[in-house]
Amino acid sequence: MILSSEEQSMLDGEQGRATQKAMQILAALGTIYGAERMIPVSSVQIAGVSYDNLGEAGLAFLAEMADGGGRARVLTTLNPAGMDIENWQSLGISPSFAEKQLWVIEVFTRMSVVSTCTCTPYLAGNTPRFGDHIAWAESSAVCYANSILGARTNREGGPSALAAALTGRTPEYGFHLDEYRKPGLTVDVRASLVGRDDWKATRDFGALGKVIGQKLEATGKKLIPYIRGIESASLEALKSFCASLATYGGAALFHMEGITPEASLMPLPGETISITRAEVDTAIQSLNDASSDEVDFVSLGCPHLSIREIGHLAELLKDKKVTKEFWITTARPTRESADRLGYTRIIEGSGAKFAADTCCVVAPIKGRFKTLATDSAKACYYAYAKNGFKTVYKSFDDVVLEALK
Ligand code: F3S
Repeated sequence: MILSSEEQSMLDGEQGRATQKAMQILAALGTIYGAERMIPVSSVQIAGVSYDNLGEAGLAFLAEMADGGGRARVLTTLNPAGMDIENWQSLGISPSFAEKQLWVIEVFTRMSVVSTCTCTPYLAGNTPRFGDHIAWAESSAVCYANSILGARTNREGGPSALAAALTGRTPEYGFHLDEYRKPGLTVDVRASLVGRDDWKATRDFGALGKVIGQKLEATGKKLIPYIRGIESASLEALKSFCASLATYGGAALFHMEGITPEASLMPLPGETISITRAEVDTAIQSLNDASSDEVDFVSLGCPHLSIREIGHLAELLKDKKVTKEFWITTARPTRESADRLGYTRIIEGSGAKFAADTCCVVAPIKGRFKTLATDSAKACYYAYAKNGFKTVYKSFDDVVLEALK
C-alpha cells in the first residue's frame, strides 16, 4: 500500500501508541483486501459497545487505546450500549453490569468519541452526505448509509471502526470503489406493500427484507440487488428494510428504483427474480412462533425509533395503561426531542419505558422474558439467536395493542 507521509508517520509511531496501533490495523486490512491506498473518512460509527458483547477483553483493548493517547479525528458515534446510560435502574439492569458499561462509555469519551449510542446515527447528528467516504460498523446503518444516503462504507468491525476514528482514514477497497457498487441481480417486487404513510410499513418492509435477503443468500454470490416495483417507502420502512436485508442476506448495499440515489446511475442486471405478496406473507408468518397470549415483553425501536414514530406512539398510548414490560428504544437526542415535544410524558404515563442508548438485543436480558412482540424482523432473528425468546411479529400499531392487552 502507498501511504502518505502523514499516514507513514502514524504507522511509525510518531503520533502516539494508539494511533500507531490503529494504523497497523488499517494497513493489515488494506493489505488483505488489496487496497492501494488509504482515503480520508468524514464519519465513523463504532459497534461492539455493549459490555455484554465486549467483555473484559474488549474493555481492556479500549482502555489500552485510550491510555495510548487515542483521540478521534472525525465525528464518531457509538452503536447501542447494553443499557440506558442515564436510566438503567428502571430497566432492571444490575449495578455490576452498569458499572462496567459506564466504564466503557467513559473510555470512549476519553477518546473524543461522541457518546450517542445508536444504530440510527443518521437520525442523531451523524449524517453523511452523498458520496462521502465513511467507516461504519452496525450492519443496518451500513446498509442505510450506502443505499439510502449514497455514502460509501464497508461493514467495519469494532477494532477497524475505532482505528478509522483514531486516524481519520480507511483503506480504499470494496464499497468505496465504483466497481463494487454495481448491482448483480434485478429483483422485481410484484407485491403490493404498505408504503409511505401506513403504520404497517415497518412490518411489510421487514418481511420483504427477509425474503430478498434469503434469496440473495441462496445465490451464494453476494450480489447487490437492484430492486424494482416499490412505489413509495417512508424513512421508517427503509430503515426496517435495511436492518432485515442485512440480517437475512448479509447485504450492505442495494439500489431501489425511484428511491435510492444511485439507482438511476446503475445498469439493470440481466439475471432477474420476482417476489410475490404470498412470499411476503409467508415471511411474516415465519417470524411468528408464539401466540399473543405468550407475550411478556414488548419492544419498538429496532432500528432505533424516529421522532415521527415516537409521536405516533404517544397518540396510541394517550390515556392508556400498558400491562407488560414495554421498551421504547431510541437514540438519546431523539429521546430529548420527545421530551421537548411532550411525548415522553404521555408515553411514560402509560407505564411504557424509554430505553435510550440501548435495545432489546444488546441489553443483558437473557432469561428475563420468554416471548417478544416486535415490528422488527431483525429483532425477531436476534431475540431468538441471542436470548432464546420466541417472537410475535406484528405491525407497529398491533405491537402497541399487545402491550395494552
Ligand atoms: Fe439497532 Fe439493536 Fe436493532 S442495534 S438494528 S435496535 S438489534
